[in-house]
Amino acid sequence: MDYLSSGFSKVDGSQDPGVFFSCLQTLCSLPYFQDYKKKSFQLLNPTKCSRILEVGCGLGGDATAIAEMIGDRSYVLAVDSSRKMIERAYKASGNEDSVLYCLGDACKLPFCDRAFDGARADRVLQHIADPRKAFSEMVRVVGERGRLVVYEPDWGTFIINGGQREISRAMTRLFGDTFPSGWIGRQLPGFFREEGLEKIQVKPETFTTDDLDLAIKVFDLINNAHRAEQMGYVSKRQAEGWLEDLRKANNHGRFFCSYTGFLVYGEKPAGSLI
Ligand SMILES: C[S@@+](CC[C@H](N)C(=O)[O-])C[C@H]1O[C@@H](n2cnc3c(N)ncnc32)[C@H](O)[C@@H]1O
Repeated sequence: MDYLSSGFSKVDGSQDPGVFFSCLQTLCSLPYFQDYKKKSFQLLNPTKCSRILEVGCGLGGDATAIAEMIGDRSYVLAVDSSRKMIERAYKASGNEDSVLYCLGDACKLPFCDRAFDGARADRVLQHIADPRKAFSEMVRVVGERGRLVVYEPDWGTFIINGGQREISRAMTRLFGDTFPSGWIGRQLPGFFREEGLEKIQVKPETFTTDDLDLAIKVFDLINNAHRAEQMGYVSKRQAEGWLEDLRKANNHGRFFCSYTGFLVYGEKPAGSLI
């Protein structure tokens, strides 16, 4: 079974990588994601950078969007640890030659120090067991005054209205606990400070929906409920009853669900020895 919370760290090992491709396609079609992505591009300010690194590029849509904002002599290098993602992204990019694709691990970026003017990662560190290492790699490969932009959710902020309180608590907790780094959102500002970055900005971005069908897709609610049952968080009856309660709540206009992600910006100081 492919779970969205734990499967993005090993897409190439999946029997059906299409699950991950279609999840990314759904998310990038939603206004919330389009909106914070646009803000993250503004923070990166690609017109001021000529060499940009996109870490964990997925299907490559963001790398292409950034490439459209930069000058002729500039380029975006998009890296991902999944060969299947990189292949999809490369095919989708058509003749866009200002995006270069590369297979690589965020924790061991295959680039020399200060090779880029800016680096961005979007919902990637949550899938990495050592997100601190991945972030310090991003800092290493960016030069003086280099711009770093990262957006990550914090799954401790995940709330659902509609089911029994204790069951909803167990379900949201399980979802967060099955990400390699489900609390990355709250850790991220500290990472920027520990690396000595300057001009740090932290912007909370809250997603909400009252549409159960959408929540099922975005938060993998049905698979997650079955997993909660298998892992002993809840009984089979509780899991099924909870999903039924959510459907009833949805029919009566009471279903609600939300989480907060954090968009964080920082700049590498001039004269930095990192
Ligand atoms: C949730 S997707 C986000 C993709 C893209 N940033 C977006 O916003 O649509 C996470 C991506 O990170 C990649 N990934 C996971 N672990 C990685 C690692 N250690 N190094 C590089 N990429 C990784 C996955 O293959 C996947 O493409």
